[in-house]
Amino acid sequence: MQIQKVGVLGAGLMGHGIAQVASQSGYEVVLREVDDGRLEKGMERIDKQLARAVEKGKVEQADADAVKGRIQRTTEYSDLADCDLVIEAITEDLALKLAMWREVDGVVKPEAIFATNTSSLAVIDQAAVTSRPDRFLGLHYFNPAQVMKLVEVVRAVTTSEETFQAGVEFAKANGKLGIPTKDKAGFIVNRLLVPYMLDAIRALEEGVGSISEIDEAMKAGAGHPMGPLTLADFVGLDTMGAICEVMYEEFAERRFAQPPTLRKMLGAGWYGKKSGKGFYDYSGEAPVENSAL
Ligand code: 3HC
Repeated sequence: MQIQKVGVLGAGLMGHGIAQVASQSGYEVVLREVDDGRLEKGMERIDKQLARAVEKGKVEQADADAVKGRIQRTTEYSDLADCDLVIEAITEDLALKLAMWREVDGVVKPEAIFATNTSSLAVIDQAAVTSRPDRFLGLHYFNPAQVMKLVEVVRAVTTSEETFQAGVEFAKANGKLGIPTKDKAGFIVNRLLVPYMLDAIRALEEGVGSISEIDEAMKAGAGHPMGPLTLADFVGLDTMGAICEVMYEEFAERRFAQPPTLRKMLGAGWYGKKSGKGFYDYSGEAPVENSAL
């Protein structure tokens, strides 16, 4: 099926970026959030990113306006009715996702493809609550979606070859590298990246280095663009906590368990950069180490 109109559920950290990339790639986009406030916040992020690109001379103002113009905003599922592809990027909570899919499945045309941007939940569990498990797959983007090249294209046991190929083609049309992965918790990247970030937290707990020493060491010693604790703050500690829970349940291995420091930080509501505090405090001009850790 020819994909022309794309629905994006959720305008948060991932959703706004997915919507922007799809619009930049020429698709009509319908961006849905639960309320106007969240919708506007997502659009502000897109505005900011586009303004920066215009300022740098990478995008013409007219093209930036066109990108925004192609994104229809809504709080109603019914506005997704004629989308050819619907990608969800809501909170990493299975119960919420299932409730959402049940509603969306009832209003979107039957031939449309559904995709989840889940970081770790089984794609099949979401596919199974819809009337189209053969037209359901995972499209896992990375943060920031505007910049990161990869989209993991996840084939659930029910995903048809046609749907899978449509996912691969869609990733390519968005200028991304689509890499196929099996429907196993964490897929490829989070399976490797999450234990790495958790080990950095354990190294901090054991006093191997301070927050910034651990980060700077991995940047200078392994050539990573961000240290693991900065990256954890960037991904969102709440998201990381949710991923850990799923992966620990799936594999029952210590490497996926939440270290006590992470559990306490989640208890305190320190979710990383988005909440203003995580391993670093973001309230000032430049981030400084969180002195309470
Ligand atoms: N949103 C959109 N674009 C952004 C951005 C953001 N938050 N931050 C930076 N950019 C863009 C800039 O506009 C710039 O674009 P340009 O080259 O066209 O001018 C480009 O990225 C480089 O930005 P900067 O020069 O300001 O900064 P850096 O060179 O330090 O790069 C970074 C920033 C790309 C975020 C880099 O630090 C990086 O690659 N970090 C690692 C990110 C990573 O590992 N992501 C994966 C996380 S895991 C995940 O998402 C999976 C999930 O399931 C948990």
